[in-house]
Amino acid sequence: MDKDSILKTYGFYAPFYDVIFGSWVNHGRKKAVERIDQRPGSRFLEIGIGTGYSIPLYQPDVRVTGIDISPEMLHVAKKRFPQERYPQVDAFIEMDAQNLEFPDDSFDAVIAMYVASVVPDPMKMMQEMSRVCVPGGTVLVLNHFASSRGILRGVENFFSPFSKRLGFKPDFSLPHFLEMTTIEVKDILPVNLGGYWKLIHFCNEPTSLDGDHSGGASINPQPA
Ligand SMILES: C[S@@+](CC[C@H](N)C(=O)[O-])C[C@H]1O[C@@H](n2cnc3c(N)ncnc32)[C@H](O)[C@@H]1O
Repeated sequence: MDKDSILKTYGFYAPFYDVIFGSWVNHGRKKAVERIDQRPGSRFLEIGIGTGYSIPLYQPDVRVTGIDISPEMLHVAKKRFPQERYPQVDAFIEMDAQNLEFPDDSFDAVIAMYVASVVPDPMKMMQEMSRVCVPGGTVLVLNHFASSRGILRGVENFFSPFSKRLGFKPDFSLPHFLEMTTIEVKDILPVNLGGYWKLIHFCNEPTSLDGDHSGGASINPQPA
């Protein structure tokens, strides 16, 4: 997806995004936020926070910065989750995930939910997430990845040419994504309906040089 089509698609989706992509995929968001240590005062960055659906999952005494490239999605987030009522909100900022305007080591955890298959350059996004996260901090990526075979694979291939209209790439490959990331995978958890989506928990440390980017992690076959 290129920047123009992302802006166009999510500008269109924004008013009713929560109806089509809200509660039925919130299980994955809950599992992601459960993975972070919500110590009072901790600083978290959400990449592509969209309409801010995850905000109520954070404790009131942490500080969450949400960035997104779509002003319309952020407009909904700001209206729904004002700082006065949601003290965990530090800021909602219009920014590109591939070029984060934060200094190195700014956050204790950095989270991208349903974004990796949308951004034009997921590798650049991962590099930026790692850069702004403290060494040894938590980096979480929640996303749908292409099925390896079967009917679902056929459906994903069918929809692949329509990614600009859908707003994501249906055939986004997990092995390819893991291959290009340079931080250590702690584990991979299937989430949402039948485990069709995956929550990848990275530890913000460089991968070992043995070429195995999975950190020995295997995918738990049971959705949690
Ligand atoms: C499928 S939505 C996910 C929204 C939210 N994370 C959620 O859990 O519902 C993808 C979001 O990523 C945003 N996005 C896409 N490309 C981006 C980029 N390069 N930088 C920042 N945000 C981006 C879109 O504007 C959209 O809000």
